Amino acid sequence: MRICVVAETAPRERRVALVPDSAAKLVKAGHEVVVQSGAGTAAYHDDASYVAAGATIAGDAGSAHVGAQVVCRVQRPNADEVALIPEGATLIAMMAPASAGPIVAALTARKVSVLALELVPRITRAQSMDVLSSQATVAGYKAVLIGASMLPRFLPMLTTAAGSITPAKAFVIGAGVAGLQALATARRLGAVTSGFDVRAAAAEQVKSLGATFVQSDVVSAAAEGTGGYAKAQSIDEAAQTLATIARHIKDQDLVISTAAIPGRAAPRLITAEMVHSMRAGSVIIDLAAETGGNCELTQLGETVEVNGVMVVGAANLPATMPTHASQMYSRNVLTLLQHLTKDGALVVDLNDEITGAMTLTHEGQVRP
Ligand code: NAI
Repeated sequence: MRICVVAETAPRERRVALVPDSAAKLVKAGHEVVVQSGAGTAAYHDDASYVAAGATIAGDAGSAHVGAQVVCRVQRPNADEVALIPEGATLIAMMAPASAGPIVAALTARKVSVLALELVPRITRAQSMDVLSSQATVAGYKAVLIGASMLPRFLPMLTTAAGSITPAKAFVIGAGVAGLQALATARRLGAVTSGFDVRAAAAEQVKSLGATFVQSDVVSAAAEGTGGYAKAQSIDEAAQTLATIARHIKDQDLVISTAAIPGRAAPRLITAEMVHSMRAGSVIIDLAAETGGNCELTQLGETVEVNGVMVVGAANLPATMPTHASQMYSRNVLTLLQHLTKDGALVVDLNDEITGAMTLTHEGQVRP
């Protein structure tokens, strides 16, 4: 099977879909791996490291795609790139399915099978293919580092000859994969940590990381929907959530917000009034900026200062740590490819629980 890895073209995207280590495993399994020259450069994998792994290098995107049966990408292709994908090939990428309509239509016309990595089902068997989890781990970690570097104070407690320093308070809203990694990272740096989530199951996880769980009457097992994701709250529940956050946030130095509801805009959890209630010098890192933001003042890709409080609309943080983000993404893609391969050929079996859930279009038909 001929598998191609292309250079990403989205602005500031530095990840690569397959790192040399994964390419080597595919070559060993008898596949041909073709890598567009420079595809791994921004993640610090040069062409020579792919050659050493047994891959071949193609000079440009056009030649990389020639004869490919599988095309591996990080972000979905643009219209020009769709035209390069051979008819009948399979595309594996993060498709951002909610906004992918026109691109999926163009791919359908070319009878390309499209597997959207965001749609890997949340089942134990598919955990090692779950890019949302692997990339959220990177985002949660990096968010704390950005916040720590922006704060005008230390995170840990210090006892020095120049006096004692009290530790900073870090508060994480949304204790999913990114949130739990943010709590763990902030704690490692010495902050006093607390977390909030609407899912009751999150409380134990927050506490296991040495953080306090911020209690609210709206926290319940019923807040958890399919796949462990949160459900949207009613108007009353949302008001109680806001009141809980308002009481806690005013005393915090660093806030990392990660709350998300699949397929919907991010819930608004930090109002402008709450930001005004915080001490000058505090920092909010909004990891939900790409879906509208958890904070009312968030601007995607920008840092806004309000009364001395910095609100960071973080965009694509995994791309800012391209080496490990690519390593983890690549492992997810490799495991998926192994799952899809039967007797050396790629099989898109729509009756398979994992493949069926991820397939947006197959054999010229858009899936419902
Ligand atoms: P996510 O990125 O969709 O959301 C982040 C967090 O925000 C979630 O914990 C959610 O409960 C929380 N949230 C939503 N609305 C909120 C609100 N109004 N106030 C406060 N918090 C709010 O979630 P993520 O991190 O992708 O996954 C979370 C769930 O998925 C967990 O139950 C986790 O155990 C499960 N999971 C399962 C996997 C598997 O079985 N393969 C893999 C990864 C996660």
